[in-house]
Amino acid sequence: MAKVARIIRNMHELPLIDASQTDVADAIADALGDTGACRLANFPDAALAATLRNDLLRLRETGALREASVGHGANKTVSRDIRGDSTLWLDDPRCGDAARGFLRELDGMRAQLNRLLYLGLSEVEAHYASYPVGAFYKLHRDRFRDSDARRISLVSYLNDAWEAEDGGALRILLANGGEHLVSPQAATSIVFLSELEHEVLPARRERLSIAAWMRRPT
Ligand code: OGA
Ligand code: MN
Repeated sequence: MAKVARIIRNMHELPLIDASQTDVADAIADALGDTGACRLANFPDAALAATLRNDLLRLRETGALREASVGHGANKTVSRDIRGDSTLWLDDPRCGDAARGFLRELDGMRAQLNRLLYLGLSEVEAHYASYPVGAFYKLHRDRFRDSDARRISLVSYLNDAWEAEDGGALRILLANGGEHLVSPQAATSIVFLSELEHEVLPARRERLSIAAWMRRPT
């Protein structure tokens, strides 16, 4: 019986919000309250996703990305058996104009969500990420063990023509016991409460994204 209920829950898709049509912040706020997560279509739009992808590929080719670490402060270490991506913060001067523009857009969304949800979201941080073939990010929460500053996570995907057999899905576990696999297809994003556990499954292609966090003051 329990098994049947689980399967039925898993069949439900996450709420999907079209950012080109809807009052996005209101719809995200509702979805975060109901489900804890939602997908966004057309955020960023296809043209901006292509520009951001090219910017990220340029930065990767010029050696600007760094192997991502886990933990923070004194507990910060690089551990490829936990996560295999390489990253660069979007406020780095080496990033292109599109990255700066997108960071401003994310900050606008932070301000609107904060007005709707009263989470004390005072800042946004975001980085480009490249996962090489076979890289993954083991099951984790985005909140650090010693800080609950990160409240809302948003990941925007930059991969053109991503196929199911390319792998690389984001697997996310919801508070109600449901779980979802999200394809990292360009011009889509996922937004979720940073307390939810999630993982990045290994891919057969390089996997490109922007990961962002809306946070309270530290
Ligand atoms: C992260 C993360 C998910 C993704 O960077 O913390 O979980 O789908 N990213 O890239
Ligand atoms: Mn994460």
